[in-house]
Amino acid sequence: MLIILHLSFMIGAALCLIIGVAMAMFWRSKNYWLKAHKTFNTTGFIMLIFGASMAVASVVTGGGEHFAGLHQQIGLAALIFSCFTVFLGYYSFNAGNKKAVMTAHRWLGRLSLACILFALILGLIMIGII
Ligand code: HEM
Ligand code: HEM
Repeated sequence: MLIILHLSFMIGAALCLIIGVAMAMFWRSKNYWLKAHKTFNTTGFIMLIFGASMAVASVVTGGGEHFAGLHQQIGLAALIFSCFTVFLGYYSFNAGNKKAVMTAHRWLGRLSLACILFALILGLIMIGII
């Protein structure tokens, strides 16, 4: 049950983040891109936190070891990168060195999404869906 919740939250998170990042990459001409980017990515990030909690709970109740395989480790990296990315996203509005913060946000954001998609594929392989 916990793993079904984990899978569902993570698929939801990945969809939100794909849409949010696509907004920043391809819909910049629309004046609502930043609002949409912020909303989709903040929602995706919250789903990521819920999904990760379900995975940790699943390992605790199953009595296994935490972060034991490649999926678990890439998933943890995705979570950490996303925390920094979201922080830098909000911080970029007030930062003195706006340009550097935005560049860091852009690259960390791309890295986060790559890790999330990699973890998703590994997770689906783990349960034999692909
Ligand atoms: C955005 C994508 C995903 C991320 C970031 C992610 C992250 C994680 C993390 C951090 C753990 C480790 C928990 C721990 O060791 O305490 C984990 C465990 C696990 N994940 Fe994912 N996950 C993702 C998608 C998926 C998907 C789609 C599946 C497919 C069902 C899946 C299946 C599993 C399984 C089976 C475990 C091990 C749980 C256990 O041993 O009880 N994950 N995941
Ligand atoms: C995990 C969540 C997030 C991810 C993965 C992410 C990812 C990205 C990426 C990849 C870009 C650059 C797109 C490109 O031009 O190639 C970008 C741009 C941007 N994002 Fe995010 N973002 C996230 C959350 C946020 C949040 C919460 C905010 C604001 C509160 C935000 C504000 C911005 C801004 C202002 C830019 C433009 C930066 C620039 O022009 O250099 N992002 N984001």
